[in-house]
Amino acid sequence: MTVPARPVKLAPSLLSCDFTRLGEELQAIADADWAHVDVMDGRFVPNISFGVPILAAARRASSLFMDVHLMIEQPERYLRDFADAGADGITVHVEATRHIHRAVGAIRELGKRAGVTLNPGTPLEAARPVLADVDLVLVMSVNPGFGGQKFIPASVERVRTLRGWLDELGSDAELQVDGGVTPANARLLADAGATCLVAGSSVFGPDGAAAGVARLREALA
Ligand code: DX5
Ligand code: ZN
Repeated sequence: MTVPARPVKLAPSLLSCDFTRLGEELQAIADADWAHVDVMDGRFVPNISFGVPILAAARRASSLFMDVHLMIEQPERYLRDFADAGADGITVHVEATRHIHRAVGAIRELGKRAGVTLNPGTPLEAARPVLADVDLVLVMSVNPGFGGQKFIPASVERVRTLRGWLDELGSDAELQVDGGVTPANARLLADAGATCLVAGSSVFGPDGAAAGVARLREALA
């Protein structure tokens, strides 16, 4: 069992928030570390969420680190737009571009933290060539496209494998997990080596997002 060297970051996913109250929802997650921003194009994933204007609005309403997860085809076409709209970090899928190394380099050239991610059915080896060049690796623990899906248990082993690869490289990149994260599996993921947990439906629940963040913190304490 790996003992996390630093507190695990929490990144509530705005996909599950009440967009009529975006500013208040951002205030409610002020005790989290990052705001996770899920952009979907209806092509890479079978759902459309939102794009640059919502990120810009969130940026104006909050000083949280804006962690932008691009679930769009050929994300290289829009990196500058999201950077200009206030992204602090941008994560791209290996399946969405023919040029993952170039895309990661382009994010860093824009002065932003570069992330790489893979769908649950993609071999982890697809990310290995760029591991030394990224600031974040995201393990998708559901098939991307929707909030509120069930956590895929095999993801835990994928986190462990990536933890090993990052440690071998001496990389201090964040190891993030996204999809079906709840207080019931947060500790397990941290023990497997995750350093940042994304959570949508388990944070933005009926009792409010501040309580949701607190529940995850308690589970990790
Ligand atoms: C899924 C998105 C996730 C999603 C997570 O495609 O990338 O960030 O919002 O939602 P939950 O935590 O409800 O699985
Ligand atoms: Zn996401």
